[in-house]
Amino acid sequence: MKKIYVPTTPEEERYIFTEGINYFSTGEGSIWGAGDDYTLKILERIQVKGKWLNLASGDGRYNSILLSKADFVTASDIDEGALSKLWHGTPEKFRHKLKTVKLNITEEFPFDDMSFDGIFCTGTLHLFPNNVLGNIVSEIGRVLKPKGRVIIDFATEIKRTSPEGKVITFGKEPLYNFDEAKALLRSLFRNYSVEMHDSEVVEEFQAANPPYKLSCRFIVMIADKN
Ligand SMILES: C[S@@+](CC[C@H](N)C(=O)[O-])C[C@H]1O[C@@H](n2cnc3c(N)ncnc32)[C@H](O)[C@@H]1O
Repeated sequence: MKKIYVPTTPEEERYIFTEGINYFSTGEGSIWGAGDDYTLKILERIQVKGKWLNLASGDGRYNSILLSKADFVTASDIDEGALSKLWHGTPEKFRHKLKTVKLNITEEFPFDDMSFDGIFCTGTLHLFPNNVLGNIVSEIGRVLKPKGRVIIDFATEIKRTSPEGKVITFGKEPLYNFDEAKALLRSLFRNYSVEMHDSEVVEEFQAANPPYKLSCRFIVMIADKN
C-alpha cells in the first residue's frame, strides 16, 4: 500500500470527525497511544476468531492484537492517511490477512449481509447523536453473522482541555452521561447478550489536532448476537 500523507479535513456538520493531520508526521506509534489497559485486558481474555471488522480503526492501536487472534481483519476508517499508517505499522507477518477499506460509518457499510464474525469499534461511537448511532448499530447488525460478537467502547462525561486549559468540544457532539449511555446501548443492542464493564481514563493526546487532555468514564461492551 502506498503511503498517504494528505490530511482528511474534518466536516463535523457531516459527522466526519477526522484529525486533519498527516499521520506519517506523528511518529511510529498510534496517535491514540498504546491502548487503554482495561480494553487490552478484555481483548487478551476473550475469544476473537474468524473475520473481524475494525470500524473507525484510526491508525490502528488495537489492530495488530485483533490480527494476532482473528483469521482476517478489515480495518476501516474515513481517513485514508490513518489507514495507510495502520497498514505500514502492521508487522509483515500479519499483512496477508489485513485489508483496509475507506468508509463513512454513518452511511451504509460497503459489505454484504452477515460477512463478519466480529466487529470492533473504539474511541468513536460517543461522537454521534442517538439517531445516527441507531443507524450505525443497525448496519453493524446487518453485516454481522448470527452469533457474531461486537466489542465497543463508549466514552461518557467527557472533558477535553487544551494545554492552555481551554475546554474543547467537537461540532455538535452529544456528550452523553454515563447512565444514559448505558441505557441507550442496552436498548440499541437489545437483540444481543450484553456484558458491560465500566472504566475511567485520564489521558493526554499530544498528536491530536488540537492536542488535548481527556478525562472520561467509559463503558466497554461485549455483545453477542442472539
Ligand atoms: C478517536 S479516533 C479512534 C481510532 C481507533 N478506533 C482507536 O481507538 O485508536 C476516531 C476515528 O474515527 C474516524 N472517523 C471519524 N469520523 C468518521 C466517520 N464519519 N466515518 C468513519 N470513520 C470516522 C477518525 O478518522 C478516527 O480515526
